[in-house]
Amino acid sequence: MKIDRERVQNTFAEYTGRYNAADPKIKLKIDHTYRVAELCELIAKDINLNEYETDVAWLTGMLHDVGRFEQIKRYGTFSDAQSVDHANFGADLLFKEGLIDTYVDDFYEDKYGAIVETAIRNHSKFRIDEGLDEYTVMFCNIIRDADKVDIFRVNIDTPPEEIYNVTTYDLKNSTITPEVMAAFDEKHAVLRAYKKTAVDNLAGHIALTFELVYPISTRIAKERGYLDKMMAFESDNDVTRKQFEEIRRKINEYVQSKDR
Ligand SMILES: [Fe+2]
Repeated sequence: MKIDRERVQNTFAEYTGRYNAADPKIKLKIDHTYRVAELCELIAKDINLNEYETDVAWLTGMLHDVGRFEQIKRYGTFSDAQSVDHANFGADLLFKEGLIDTYVDDFYEDKYGAIVETAIRNHSKFRIDEGLDEYTVMFCNIIRDADKVDIFRVNIDTPPEEIYNVTTYDLKNSTITPEVMAAFDEKHAVLRAYKKTAVDNLAGHIALTFELVYPISTRIAKERGYLDKMMAFESDNDVTRKQFEEIRRKINEYVQSKDR
């Protein structure tokens, strides 16, 4: 495939222009897309991919959330549980309904077409599909890392009440569910089913740190202050304050161990 970045950006702008950018939810996903594509590029360069591979990683970032716009239009929510799996939904729009042809010519001409499709379909899964080859897994990991790092940014740029659809009272007074706290010992992300309280959402997002694959992703999250700001959450509940102390200790330990 031939990747013309300007064309990709113009097509994305044109496509998203059909949706209501005055809706903060739409605006958020537009900004998220550009940032994720940029992060994909940073990661690709840091792991020494060549120029074409870097373009492929960047393209994956530009396309990964294309399903979000139709999702919000048709279902009025970004909750996959309450609507559709946005990753597969977007991939179907692109690769089954031919939206990809507006972005790139000869998409399936080389192996990268299938790689991009697989990376998009896998970007939001708890775990990547089994049985994929190492090279494809790498592109999956790049988009998954980039997406998580920008989720951190959204967490500090957007009021949590808005992201999680919870009240300030619940956020400030709820405690973290034991199964969610356990993730910080076991060093992995939190399954959606375990998140029960308002503050579980925030803790769950912080736990995404354990899933970051590439050192530069962790470094960016730390250096840009995303992790520290998320972990600086001040609860009105003494139990939760202690839980956050524990989270800070465990995440900082983990991040330092990764930095060596
Ligand atoms: Fe996504």
